[in-house]
Amino acid sequence: MDQNGGSKEVMKKSVEKKQTAKKKSVPKAAGAEAAVVKETAAEVKSAVAAEEKSTVWTQAEEAVYRKRFGRHFDELRWLYMELYGNDSMFAELCDNMERFYRERDVELRALDADREACADWYKQNDMLGMMFYIDNFAGNMRGVESKLDYLEECNVNYVHLMPFLETPEGRSDGGYAVSDFRKVQEKLGTMEDLESLTAACHRKKINVCMDFVMNHTSEDHDWARRARQGDGEYMSRYFFFDNDRIPAMYERTVPQVFPTTAPGNFTWLPDAGHFVMTSFYPYQWDLNYKNPRVFNEMMYNFLFLANRGIDIIRIDAVPYIWKELNTQCRNLPQVHTIVRMMRMIGEIVCPGILLLGEVVMEPEKVVPYFGTVEKPECHMLYNVTTMATTWHTVASRDVRLLKKQLDIVNSLPKEYVFLNYLRCHDDIGWGLDYGTLMMDGIGERSHKKYLNDYFQGYAGSSNSRGELYNADPLTGDARFCGTTASMCGIEKAGFEQNDAAMEQAIQLDIMLHAYMFMQSGIPVLYSGDEIGQVNDYTYKEDPLKAADSRYIHRGVMNWTLAERISDPATVEAKVFGGLKKLEQIRKSEKVFVSNADTWTIETHEPGVLCMGRYFDGDKLLGLFNFSEFDKTAWISEDGTYIDLFTGNEVKADSVQMPAYGFCYLKKMG
Ligand code: GLC
Repeated sequence: MDQNGGSKEVMKKSVEKKQTAKKKSVPKAAGAEAAVVKETAAEVKSAVAAEEKSTVWTQAEEAVYRKRFGRHFDELRWLYMELYGNDSMFAELCDNMERFYRERDVELRALDADREACADWYKQNDMLGMMFYIDNFAGNMRGVESKLDYLEECNVNYVHLMPFLETPEGRSDGGYAVSDFRKVQEKLGTMEDLESLTAACHRKKINVCMDFVMNHTSEDHDWARRARQGDGEYMSRYFFFDNDRIPAMYERTVPQVFPTTAPGNFTWLPDAGHFVMTSFYPYQWDLNYKNPRVFNEMMYNFLFLANRGIDIIRIDAVPYIWKELNTQCRNLPQVHTIVRMMRMIGEIVCPGILLLGEVVMEPEKVVPYFGTVEKPECHMLYNVTTMATTWHTVASRDVRLLKKQLDIVNSLPKEYVFLNYLRCHDDIGWGLDYGTLMMDGIGERSHKKYLNDYFQGYAGSSNSRGELYNADPLTGDARFCGTTASMCGIEKAGFEQNDAAMEQAIQLDIMLHAYMFMQSGIPVLYSGDEIGQVNDYTYKEDPLKAADSRYIHRGVMNWTLAERISDPATVEAKVFGGLKKLEQIRKSEKVFVSNADTWTIETHEPGVLCMGRYFDGDKLLGLFNFSEFDKTAWISEDGTYIDLFTGNEVKADSVQMPAYGFCYLKKMG
């Protein structure tokens, strides 16, 4: 298959197939019409549509399902029994998997088949993601649908719709406290709007990602309400304790996620006379996956959502889903059993979907979530340590730690796909390789303080702006929040109306994107970053958000500013234009495919990083100057190269790098 633009090709083929599939399903639908006598045309139509959805099950499709099921049955049953030892619950799971397959739209089934036939569809060089909150981006789901042309203009073919399921206002943790997994927040639309949006995205070859928050539910979820009323069946779906003896035992070994905004891992419910486990906010109740009912029901929710046309399921907070006393309650072996089962369930019912694991931890904890080549778990994981190390490099102007980190990632199997990003909706935690930094006499606590001071604009020659997140007075630890543009100095330069500083800030911003695009995997932008949008301080005026500084970088998309991308003199046009050029190069050069060879090259200049890529005869060098001074990259690579930005022929020998400059050099001949 053509590597270049391959994922588009798969989507196109499936659109063609689905038309044939639709034709095939007509006789069944017509049969249903005769059987059901309906009074109005509308009723008949909806009955036919329902019939079409639930019973299209040609012999060929049944055979496909049986084959997929047969492929995984033994392992799935083995793992399920190992965890639950419950035959009837396993049988129920199997029945429901088949039901969800039957209900799956013919168009989605066609896409599944194409993707199964081209398993590398998401590893192509045209992949580019963007994440946003639906209301911030375009008001509601219909609004997003009306903005698809803009997304296309951004070269985006993967949108991550931040949590949009029902959640209580003011107790939502940005939507990560779900009270109904089958209902869209009213202000954002309906399930039908979601289906319409995913279908519209598919017509434009855009993949849709959503969060599957499976570690916990909102305290307003029906199960939680019943549990609170003392219904044992539902209490057993959470962790309930009538005194603090066991919670206190857990607290000895379980770290805190939000030490300042939500300390502790349990919440006392005075009305219920019980403690409930709440690793995140007190209104987010941890689900108990030791109960097979919880696993089964959550799998049905997963399949229900997949059937709405979702392509990528982001498994939120996945390391936390299994709890055991006397452990940290993170990354336990049972978590991997569950993710592996999820992967198999997906491959049986809806193999076109991808699992993206949210594992915000050090590399040795992240990588196991890919599983093994024979028994894979997640398709994609966040490249979180690389992201944090990038900002350390911005502050220190010293690429050595980043080079080491990239060497670790580059040494992993090429099948692994990372999601690369400069920042997301969450804070940046300083999870760096302190063992290595220590060899230069850099201690963890003082360095974290330095980075936090730096990015707040207090230390060194920093132009960054932003705020701390969950500063823990006990450990001295704090994380950081800010948009890419603000962290690069665009906010400060704009405020001070300093043109020279602005040019430099824009240069740094684009250089960081160029470097991020050079990494293997899927680059994902946070909406607004493509126009250099700065921090939004208005969250402080909203009592429901004021305590959570992550809202500083979750601002509303400023469409008035976005209009300026057509005026080349503006900041927005410069950032947008710079990124667009990078995106075009990335999707036209096959060397950017995810499974290319990648390595780093010593530049003998601490400020400059050099990365190499090789694929199918093409070789590319990327050079990135993390310093505000002109530098020379002391490399000496054979041959003649073409600078993909200027089109000039150059030698890859003692390359002159302007302040915050970058280049992509492609070997000729
Ligand atoms: C994930 C989300 C984060 C949320 C947490 C709890 O880490 O990215 O925003 O607070 O899960 O659900």
